[in-house]
This record gives sequence, C-alpha cells and structure tokens, in this order.
Amino acid sequence: MMIPVNEPIFTGNEKKYLNRCIDEGWISSEGPFVREFEDKFSAYLGLRYGVAVCNGTAALEVALAAAGIGRGDEVILPTFTIISCVTGVLRLGGKPVLVDSEPETWNMDVSQVAARINNETRAIMPVHIYGHPVDMDPLRELAAKHRLLIIEDAAEAHGAEYRGRKAGGIGQAGCFSFYANKIVNTGEGGMVVTADAAIAERARAYRNLCFQEGKRFYHTGLGYNFRMTNLQAAVGLAQLENIEKHIAIKIHNASLYNRNLADIAEIRLPVEKEWAKNVYWMYGIELRDAAGMDNGELADRLRERGVATRPFFLGMHEQPVLREMGLFRGEGYPVAERLARRGLYLPSGLALTEEQIDAVSGALHDIFGR
Ligand SMILES: Cc1ncc(COP(=O)(O)O)c(C=O)c1O
Repeated sequence: MMIPVNEPIFTGNEKKYLNRCIDEGWISSEGPFVREFEDKFSAYLGLRYGVAVCNGTAALEVALAAAGIGRGDEVILPTFTIISCVTGVLRLGGKPVLVDSEPETWNMDVSQVAARINNETRAIMPVHIYGHPVDMDPLRELAAKHRLLIIEDAAEAHGAEYRGRKAGGIGQAGCFSFYANKIVNTGEGGMVVTADAAIAERARAYRNLCFQEGKRFYHTGLGYNFRMTNLQAAVGLAQLENIEKHIAIKIHNASLYNRNLADIAEIRLPVEKEWAKNVYWMYGIELRDAAGMDNGELADRLRERGVATRPFFLGMHEQPVLREMGLFRGEGYPVAERLARRGLYLPSGLALTEEQIDAVSGALHDIFGR
C-alpha cells in the first residue's frame, strides 16, 4: 500500500448538489450551479466576476485572450511553472519571456522582471507556486510604471494571501484550477476571476465560441468551448463551502511535516515569508548538496518505503517541445534548473492522516540515517 501524493475529500454537500443536478435534469453548462459557483468563488476573493471553465489551462488562455494578448505580445513569466502558462501565450500568437525562481519560495524572482520589459511587453504572469504567494508589490509597481497587465496563475494557491489580499485577486485577472488535487476541486475545472467587467465579458465570450448575445449563430471572434458543466460546479460549490476547513488541514499537515523533518539537515523545507499566508497546497522539499542524491533517487528510495512523490517542475527553457520551436535558445536559469533536479513534493492530500505523515517522515529519517 503506497501513501498517495493526493487523495481528495468530499465531506460536504457534494452528493446533495450532484443529486439535484440529476433530479432536475441540469447537467450542462446552462445549469444554475455554474453561476452560483462563479459568484461565490469570486466573492471569496473579493471580486465581482468569475468565469468558470473546463480546467486551469483553459482559464489561463481565456484570461490572456480576454486581456487582449495577441500576436507579438510578450508576457513575462517564471520558467519554473507548468507548461499551461506558456501554451496559452503561444496559442494567442504571443511570446513567453522567462525569469528564474527565487531560491527560498521557489516563486518567480521579481527582481529579474524589470530587465525583461521592452516595447512588446504587455503582461506579467506571476505563478503562486505550491501555495505560497509571489511578492506582488514590486510587480504591481513595475506594471503601473510600464502599463502592463498582471494575470495571476493562482491554480495552486486557493486562499493564499499576500499582505492580507488573496492570491488571484490582486492583478487584472486571476486564474484557478479545480483539478482533483486542488484545495477546491471539481474533478476537472477552472475559473478566471476579475474585477473588470470588460475582461469578464470577453472571457465569457471566448469560453463559449464567441456567441453573440441575442444573435445566436453570428460570430465576430474565434473562441473555444471551454465551458464548465453544472455537475462540476455542483461539486465545486460544495467544496467551496468547506474551503477554510481544507486550508486548515493543509496548514496543519505542513506544521506536522515541519516539526518532523526539522532535524534532517540534507533537505530544505518550504518557507512562509512574513508578508505571506502559505496554504501549503503541496508540501515540497529540496535536497541540499549534502544529501548526495537527486530527486529521482530520493523518489525511488521513498517508493521502496511505500511513499509516493512527484518531482518539481522542469523549467520551460528545458522543455524539448519549446526548444524545438526555437524558444529560449541559450537561456539558463540556475535556480529553476536546480529545483527541477533537487525538488519533490511529499504526500499532501486532504485525506492524509497524521499516521501517514509520521510514516513519510520516518521513511525520510531512515534514508538520511537519523
Ligand atoms: C500553476 C498551475 N497552473 C495551471 C495549471 C493547469 O490546471 P489544469 O490542470 O486544471 O489545466 C496547473 C495544474 O495543476 C498548475 O499547477
């Protein structure tokens, strides 16, 4: 029996709301839970508009499109992220421009952004990695000075806070994933959130084939079918009702790992900056030089002991598909390169028990001879 990296929990109204969908026959995106989930999730972030979509990858593309990113526009983002950030930019004809990570939080190094701004730059995409928010104030200053948009990727950071403001609710648009391993999950799902009525309106159009209001089969734009179903929204609404409980579990589990692993000098544990609320979506660790092994070897040794893990992201500049496209030639990002080889995350799901956390910690103690 392996201890899984993630297992979701459904302890609220999920079944009740799903049954309502079936009983009432509303299963498509036209059902009432979609709007209710959009309204309540965006309100949770302190925003007026939510546009639910079929996954977080779609949310990023919809947000970029709604913000007007198009051919030749440059978007500055961290190399250490998921490829969804880059695919959205590329599909719209834009150009992703990378910065390295900052070694403590693993988030984009905001001090590197200014040097990458030029006349083509239109947006900055901070990604709140593993539940810790990006240092947003320096980005907001740069964005204001150069008239850039900020499109946040908060897929991994539901409820995380930067100086009291919720991640995903700080820039012109925020993007969320509700994949099964997320703090609020809908199986597959995503949302664009914004305070900007025009962005919300364009996002709604882009998500739904750019149908015109009142003129059904008449299109002035090329959109997609990125809609969320009522079934997904039913689960999402029930999950959202328990978001504070889910976040408390994540923070509690991280505190147990922090306590158990503090004596292992070979690994670096996640941090929480004084201006941040880290929701510890995934509990990541990084091997120091003294460990004498990379994350592949540690993953193997943990697997032998019944513990499943996942490696950290491989940076965008190291992705074969992007290099073959001629992107990021000759670029090097040493922190991200190191994280890709030294980082992994431990079992972090909401269903994780204290005994399992102790077992994972015991396996690490065993491997490092404590
Ligand atoms: C930072 C980040 N952005 C975007 C996504 C894409 O979300 P999805 O898997 O729902 O498409 C993920 C996926 O987990 C992610 O971790």
